[in-house]
Amino acid sequence: MKFFVDTADVEAIAELNDYGMVDGVTTNPSIIMKSGRDIMEVTKEICDLVDGPVSAEVVSMDFETMLAEGRKLAEIAENICVKVPLTWAGLQTCKALSDSGTKVNVTLCFSANQALIAAKAGASFISPFVGRLDDINIDGMELIEDIRSIYDNYDFNTEILVASIRTVNHMKEAAIIGADVATAPPAVIKKLAQHPLTDAGLAAFEADWAKTGQKIL
Ligand code: E4P
Repeated sequence: MKFFVDTADVEAIAELNDYGMVDGVTTNPSIIMKSGRDIMEVTKEICDLVDGPVSAEVVSMDFETMLAEGRKLAEIAENICVKVPLTWAGLQTCKALSDSGTKVNVTLCFSANQALIAAKAGASFISPFVGRLDDINIDGMELIEDIRSIYDNYDFNTEILVASIRTVNHMKEAAIIGADVATAPPAVIKKLAQHPLTDAGLAAFEADWAKTGQKIL
């Protein structure tokens, strides 16, 4: 499973990149707002830092303006993936951009049927939001299972990019189901390494090693 980082925090991306944890980056208008940075500038910085796809989202609602925004965003760098919402205008933009060779991430997906039509429109990635479904008492991971089955049934090339990840369990479940990508905030990715038994075991080894009086270096 590929790891994308769901942030526009360049320092956090650079840190995780040093550990080989960054296969791509996702942003959205809220993430750009939180960064306090100019979208074009910060997105270019991220694209220069990361080899994989960097999703940058359009903000208009109609097809013509969405397409123009998508084309402008795509000019930032070769690894830009234009993110469009799962609306008819978004799907039309997806088809037009995909046909001209630009990768498209279709976002705000909350149903299997939405994922089905995004694949038909040529999306490179579909972004189902598991956390926001969990928030309203719908099991987000069931949606990932359904999309996995549908895409496998018909050999769609669209990659399932699990989004709105809030917990390490979301990461584990996405990997078990066989999602292609999980995008998570840096804090969630860092927590994947944590286990209290690792900490306890290490403390015991440290204490016993001190008693030997030995050194390796
Ligand atoms: C990423 O592509 C999504 O925009 C993001 O994961 C949404 O996460 P949220 O539901 O925590 O805002």
